[in-house]
Amino acid sequence: MERLSIIVALDALGGNIEKVEKLARVLCGSVEGFKLGWPNLLPAGPRIGEAVRQACPQAMIIADLKLADIAYTMLQTAQHLPWADAVIAHSFLGVEGALDGLKEYLDKNNKKLVLVISMSHPGSREAIDPCLNRLINIARAVRPWGIVAPATRPWIIGIARRELGPHIKILSPGIGAQGAEPGTAIRNGADLEIIGRLITRSPNPEKIINKIKINYNKSNITNN
Ligand code: XMP
Repeated sequence: MERLSIIVALDALGGNIEKVEKLARVLCGSVEGFKLGWPNLLPAGPRIGEAVRQACPQAMIIADLKLADIAYTMLQTAQHLPWADAVIAHSFLGVEGALDGLKEYLDKNNKKLVLVISMSHPGSREAIDPCLNRLINIARAVRPWGIVAPATRPWIIGIARRELGPHIKILSPGIGAQGAEPGTAIRNGADLEIIGRLITRSPNPEKIINKIKINYNKSNITNN
Protein backbone atom coordinates (compact mmCIF):
# COMPACT_ATOMS: atom_id res chain seq x y z
CA MET A 1 0.00 0.00 0.00
CA GLU A 2 1.32 3.47 -0.79
CA ARG A 3 2.03 5.66 2.22
CA LEU A 4 0.68 9.18 2.27
CA SER A 5 3.12 11.91 3.34
CA ILE A 6 1.26 12.44 6.59
CA ILE A 7 2.23 12.42 10.25
CA VAL A 8 -0.84 11.84 12.39
CA ALA A 9 -0.85 14.03 15.54
CA LEU A 10 -2.39 11.92 18.29
CA ASP A 11 -2.98 14.67 20.90
CA ALA A 12 -6.79 14.47 20.80
CA LEU A 13 -6.66 10.86 22.02
CA GLY A 14 -4.97 11.96 25.24
CA GLY A 15 -3.68 9.18 27.46
CA ASN A 16 -6.00 6.54 26.05
CA ILE A 17 -3.40 3.92 25.10
CA GLU A 18 -6.03 1.55 23.71
CA LYS A 19 -7.38 4.15 21.28
CA VAL A 20 -3.89 5.30 20.28
CA GLU A 21 -2.76 1.74 19.67
CA LYS A 22 -5.88 0.95 17.63
CA LEU A 23 -5.51 4.03 15.41
CA ALA A 24 -1.80 3.37 14.89
CA ARG A 25 -2.62 -0.19 13.83
CA VAL A 26 -5.44 0.87 11.50
CA LEU A 27 -3.39 3.56 9.78
CA CYS A 28 -0.07 1.70 9.81
CA GLY A 29 1.20 1.47 6.24
CA SER A 30 -1.05 4.25 4.94
CA VAL A 31 0.75 7.17 6.65
CA GLU A 32 4.43 7.96 7.29
CA GLY A 33 4.17 8.22 11.03
CA PHE A 34 2.66 9.45 14.27
CA LYS A 35 3.30 12.34 16.62
CA LEU A 36 2.85 12.18 20.38
CA GLY A 37 2.81 15.24 22.61
CA TRP A 38 2.21 16.36 26.18
CA PRO A 39 -1.53 15.52 26.07
CA ASN A 40 -0.57 11.88 25.44
CA LEU A 41 2.57 11.57 27.53
CA LEU A 42 1.49 13.33 30.72
CA PRO A 43 -1.49 11.04 31.45
CA ALA A 44 -0.10 7.82 29.98
CA GLY A 45 3.67 8.05 30.42
CA PRO A 46 6.21 6.46 28.08
CA ARG A 47 4.08 3.31 27.62
CA ILE A 48 2.07 5.21 25.03
CA GLY A 49 5.16 5.67 22.85
CA GLU A 50 6.02 2.01 23.16
CA ALA A 51 2.42 1.11 22.25
CA VAL A 52 2.62 3.08 18.99
CA ARG A 53 5.97 1.44 18.22
CA GLN A 54 4.48 -2.01 18.71
CA ALA A 55 1.34 -1.23 16.74
CA CYS A 56 3.32 0.07 13.76
CA PRO A 57 7.03 -0.84 13.89
CA GLN A 58 7.86 0.84 10.56
CA ALA A 59 6.30 4.22 11.37
CA MET A 60 8.27 7.34 12.19
CA ILE A 61 7.32 8.36 15.72
CA ILE A 62 7.87 12.00 16.65
CA ALA A 63 8.05 13.28 20.23
CA ASP A 64 6.54 16.76 20.12
CA LEU A 65 7.51 18.28 23.45
CA LYS A 66 8.65 21.49 21.74
CA LEU A 67 11.79 21.48 23.85
CA ALA A 68 12.91 24.97 24.85
CA ASP A 69 15.63 24.87 27.49
CA ILE A 70 19.37 24.75 28.03
CA ALA A 71 21.16 21.76 26.47
CA TYR A 72 21.62 19.98 29.82
CA THR A 73 17.91 19.97 30.62
CA MET A 74 16.87 19.05 27.08
CA LEU A 75 19.23 16.05 27.22
CA GLN A 76 17.80 15.02 30.59
CA THR A 77 14.39 15.05 28.88
CA ALA A 78 15.39 13.46 25.57
CA GLN A 79 16.89 10.40 27.28
CA HIS A 80 13.38 9.43 28.37
CA LEU A 81 12.15 9.14 24.79
CA PRO A 82 13.67 5.81 23.64
CA TRP A 83 10.63 5.09 21.45
CA ALA A 84 10.98 8.34 19.47
CA ASP A 85 12.65 8.56 16.05
CA ALA A 86 12.53 12.35 16.05
CA VAL A 87 12.27 15.12 18.61
CA ILE A 88 10.85 18.63 18.09
CA ALA A 89 12.54 21.66 19.69
CA HIS A 90 12.15 25.41 19.31
CA SER A 91 14.73 27.19 17.16
CA PHE A 92 14.51 30.47 19.11
CA LEU A 93 16.82 28.97 21.79
CA GLY A 94 19.82 29.66 19.60
CA VAL A 95 22.79 27.38 19.02
CA GLU A 96 25.35 27.73 21.80
CA GLY A 97 24.53 25.94 25.03
CA ALA A 98 21.19 24.74 23.71
CA LEU A 99 20.61 23.36 20.21
CA ASP A 100 24.28 22.44 19.67
CA GLY A 101 24.16 20.01 22.60
CA LEU A 102 20.75 18.62 21.69
CA LYS A 103 21.78 18.02 18.08
CA GLU A 104 24.96 16.23 19.16
CA TYR A 105 23.04 14.03 21.60
CA LEU A 106 20.35 13.11 19.06
CA ASP A 107 22.94 12.40 16.35
CA LYS A 108 24.78 10.04 18.72
CA ASN A 109 21.54 8.25 19.50
CA ASN A 110 20.38 8.01 15.87
CA LYS A 111 17.45 10.31 16.39
CA LYS A 112 16.33 13.18 14.22
CA LEU A 113 16.06 16.79 15.33
CA VAL A 114 13.14 18.90 14.05
CA LEU A 115 13.17 22.67 14.72
CA VAL A 116 10.10 24.93 14.83
CA ILE A 117 10.75 28.08 12.76
CA SER A 118 7.18 29.37 12.66
CA MET A 119 3.87 28.20 14.10
CA SER A 120 0.46 27.61 12.60
CA HIS A 121 -1.59 29.72 15.06
CA PRO A 122 -2.23 33.44 14.32
CA GLY A 123 -0.21 34.56 17.37
CA SER A 124 2.96 33.30 15.70
CA ARG A 125 2.90 36.65 13.87
CA GLU A 126 3.40 38.55 17.14
CA ALA A 127 6.89 37.41 18.12
CA ILE A 128 8.02 34.34 16.15
CA ASP A 129 7.44 35.36 12.54
CA PRO A 130 9.15 38.78 12.81
CA CYS A 131 12.29 36.76 13.64
CA LEU A 132 11.86 34.31 10.76
CA ASN A 133 15.18 35.19 9.10
CA ARG A 134 17.06 34.75 12.36
CA LEU A 135 15.35 31.44 13.05
CA ILE A 136 16.17 30.22 9.56
CA ASN A 137 19.81 31.20 10.18
CA ILE A 138 19.79 29.19 13.41
CA ALA A 139 18.36 26.19 11.53
CA ARG A 140 21.06 26.62 8.89
CA ALA A 141 23.73 26.52 11.59
CA VAL A 142 22.28 23.56 13.52
CA ARG A 143 21.55 21.46 10.41
CA PRO A 144 18.52 19.60 11.80
CA TRP A 145 16.91 16.74 9.86
CA GLY A 146 13.76 18.81 9.58
CA ILE A 147 11.88 21.98 10.42
CA VAL A 148 8.25 22.80 11.18
CA ALA A 149 6.56 25.52 9.11
CA PRO A 150 2.83 26.32 8.94
CA ALA A 151 0.32 25.23 6.30
CA THR A 152 -1.81 28.17 7.46
CA ARG A 153 0.81 30.63 6.08
CA PRO A 154 2.22 28.54 3.25
CA TRP A 155 4.49 31.27 1.87
CA ILE A 156 6.68 30.63 4.95
CA ILE A 157 7.15 27.06 3.72
CA GLY A 158 8.33 28.51 0.39
CA ILE A 159 10.79 30.86 2.10
CA ALA A 160 12.16 28.05 4.26
CA ARG A 161 12.60 25.75 1.28
CA ARG A 162 14.38 28.46 -0.72
CA GLU A 163 16.66 29.41 2.17
CA LEU A 164 17.41 25.95 3.57
CA GLY A 165 17.63 23.97 0.34
CA PRO A 166 16.14 20.79 -1.04
CA HIS A 167 17.44 18.29 1.52
CA ILE A 168 15.93 19.53 4.76
CA LYS A 169 12.56 17.96 5.58
CA ILE A 170 9.71 20.41 6.05
CA LEU A 171 6.88 19.21 8.30
CA SER A 172 3.73 21.27 8.22
CA PRO A 173 0.80 21.44 10.66
CA GLY A 174 -2.33 23.55 10.31
CA ILE A 175 -4.33 21.23 8.05
CA GLY A 176 -7.98 20.53 8.80
CA ALA A 177 -8.95 21.86 12.25
CA GLN A 178 -6.76 24.94 11.82
CA GLY A 179 -8.11 25.73 8.36
CA ALA A 180 -5.66 24.65 5.65
CA GLU A 181 -6.74 22.06 3.07
CA PRO A 182 -4.85 18.76 2.82
CA GLY A 183 -2.22 19.17 0.11
CA THR A 184 -1.66 22.90 0.74
CA ALA A 185 1.65 22.41 2.51
CA ILE A 186 3.04 19.85 0.09
CA ARG A 187 2.10 22.00 -2.92
CA ASN A 188 4.10 24.80 -1.30
CA GLY A 189 7.22 22.73 -0.77
CA ALA A 190 6.67 20.72 2.43
CA ASP A 191 7.55 17.03 2.65
CA LEU A 192 5.09 15.92 5.30
CA GLU A 193 1.73 17.24 6.46
CA ILE A 194 1.03 16.95 10.19
CA ILE A 195 -2.68 16.26 10.63
CA GLY A 196 -4.40 15.74 13.97
CA ARG A 197 -8.06 16.29 14.73
CA LEU A 198 -9.27 15.91 11.14
CA ILE A 199 -8.22 12.26 11.47
CA THR A 200 -8.28 11.53 15.21
CA ARG A 201 -11.74 12.97 15.82
CA SER A 202 -13.30 11.23 12.86
CA PRO A 203 -15.47 8.17 13.52
CA ASN A 204 -13.89 6.72 10.39
CA PRO A 205 -10.21 7.73 10.09
CA GLU A 206 -9.61 5.39 7.14
CA LYS A 207 -12.31 7.18 5.17
CA ILE A 208 -10.63 10.53 5.89
CA ILE A 209 -7.30 9.11 4.74
CA ASN A 210 -8.93 7.95 1.50
CA LYS A 211 -10.45 11.40 0.97
CA ILE A 212 -7.05 13.02 1.54
CA LYS A 213 -5.56 10.58 -0.94
CA ILE A 214 -8.06 11.67 -3.59
CA ASN A 215 -7.24 15.30 -2.78
CA TYR A 216 -3.50 14.58 -3.13
CA ASN A 217 -4.04 12.74 -6.40
CA LYS A 218 -6.00 15.68 -7.81
CA SER A 219 -3.05 17.92 -6.93
CA ASN A 220 -0.61 15.42 -8.46
CA ILE A 221 1.05 14.93 -5.09
CA THR A 222 3.16 11.81 -5.26
CA ASN A 223 3.00 9.60 -2.23
CA ASN A 224 5.79 7.53 -0.75
P1 XMP B 1 -4.44 19.53 14.52
O1 XMP B 1 -5.44 18.80 15.33
O2 XMP B 1 -4.55 21.02 14.62
O3 XMP B 1 -3.04 19.12 15.17
O4 XMP B 1 -4.36 19.06 13.09
C1 XMP B 1 -1.85 19.73 14.83
C2 XMP B 1 -0.73 19.16 15.63
O5 XMP B 1 0.45 19.86 15.33
C3 XMP B 1 0.88 20.62 16.46
N1 XMP B 1 1.16 21.94 15.95
C4 XMP B 1 2.36 22.43 15.78
N2 XMP B 1 3.56 21.91 16.03
N3 XMP B 1 4.56 23.87 15.17
C5 XMP B 1 4.66 22.66 15.75
O6 XMP B 1 5.78 22.21 15.99
C6 XMP B 1 3.37 24.43 14.90
O7 XMP B 1 3.27 25.50 14.34
C7 XMP B 1 2.22 23.67 15.22
N4 XMP B 1 0.93 23.92 15.06
C8 XMP B 1 0.30 22.82 15.51
C9 XMP B 1 -0.21 20.61 17.47
O8 XMP B 1 0.31 20.64 18.76
C10 XMP B 1 -0.89 19.31 17.13
O9 XMP B 1 -0.16 18.24 17.71
